[in-house]
Amino acid sequence: MPKRVILAYSGGLDTSVMVRWLTEKGFEVITYTANVGQGDELSEIPEKAKASGAVEAIVEDVREEFVREYCLPTLRALALYEGRYPLTASLSRPLISKKLVEYARKFRADYVAHGSTGKGNDQVRFELSVWALDPDIEVLAPVREWEFRAREEQIEYAKKHSIPVKVTKEKPYSIDRNLWGVSIECGPLEDPWEEPPEDAFQITVSPEKAPDDPESVTLGFERGVPVSLNGKKYDRIHKLVEDLNSIAGRHGVGRIDMVENRLVGIKSREVYEAPGATVLYTAYRELLSLVTDRFTFHYFLSHIPHEYAKLVYEGLWFTPLREAMDAFTSRLGDLVTGEVKLKLYRGSVTVVGRRSPNSLYEEELATYSEKDAFDHTAGKLFTKVWGLPLKVLGRRSKRTP
Ligand code: ARG
Repeated sequence: MPKRVILAYSGGLDTSVMVRWLTEKGFEVITYTANVGQGDELSEIPEKAKASGAVEAIVEDVREEFVREYCLPTLRALALYEGRYPLTASLSRPLISKKLVEYARKFRADYVAHGSTGKGNDQVRFELSVWALDPDIEVLAPVREWEFRAREEQIEYAKKHSIPVKVTKEKPYSIDRNLWGVSIECGPLEDPWEEPPEDAFQITVSPEKAPDDPESVTLGFERGVPVSLNGKKYDRIHKLVEDLNSIAGRHGVGRIDMVENRLVGIKSREVYEAPGATVLYTAYRELLSLVTDRFTFHYFLSHIPHEYAKLVYEGLWFTPLREAMDAFTSRLGDLVTGEVKLKLYRGSVTVVGRRSPNSLYEEELATYSEKDAFDHTAGKLFTKVWGLPLKVLGRRSKRTP
């Protein structure tokens, strides 16, 4: 029996060469390609994989599952790595890993393989996810050990073995795209002082080239799930995200340029585009703050976004910790029903209105008009007691200057 491996396959040069390389090492290769909204034409994938030597090629549309099971929980946690990165690439890895394990079982394969390098985060996410789901499956990462040093050597190898590769004029970037956003690195971006060239961007226009007029969007949520855009209902959330990406993208919303801390200790310059996710985060935060009391909202802000983002970034998706945090944020998400009105304009997204049946905003308490129902006399004693420690401090510094 040949050793069988399920390979996470993109159809690019690396993974095409990998099919052949694994075959030469004695493996029977089955490729797995997930449609996570990467925008590539996937209809030619099976033919291409087989021409490279795969015995079977699976292509699966997982867009809805990706958004519902991975992006939405992360949205409900308002998780942004180092306060900025909406974890687009990080989120697809656990899903792809889960699928690799499923197909490994189905096809009785003892191995799965991925195309990540030895200095990135993705190797960690793939491997930890697979181990958590099935520790008996061995994960192979050919890029970490094969002999190719340069792209040219791979092209040479591909030609020699008649592996179909499109030798287009290579853009200098490494791009990972899915419907939650795009990650761009390498080439001129490796100099953190260099402004990202316009051709690096895939799904947003530059704010300078965005329309002169702002555009309003209204997002509707039901129990923590985005369900409508400008009054139109969606039962497939990934469609809503796709539509929102194109609306916000044409206003230049959601570009992020940062130097981040990778798991392996390197600082790396990354450019991201997440137009839809940026609008969704802004809207979700707005509603969450409207429907949660101060104690809960502050607890959430101090404990969840940063911790959840780290967990996703660091490959810990399949852990009880993530499930427990999801339980917490889903409980709060149950309150997140309502609408948020936002304005998109030249790279910015601004909330201009919000409403919810679960709103804790009471106009009679907030108003400065004659409708005011707040007991102003309570303010005096409240301030006296709340401020007592400061009075005591003040007395001490007068005593011991
Ligand atoms: N730095 C990001 C992360 O670790 C993006 C990595 C995606 N890869 C790429 N080829 N751009 O999640």
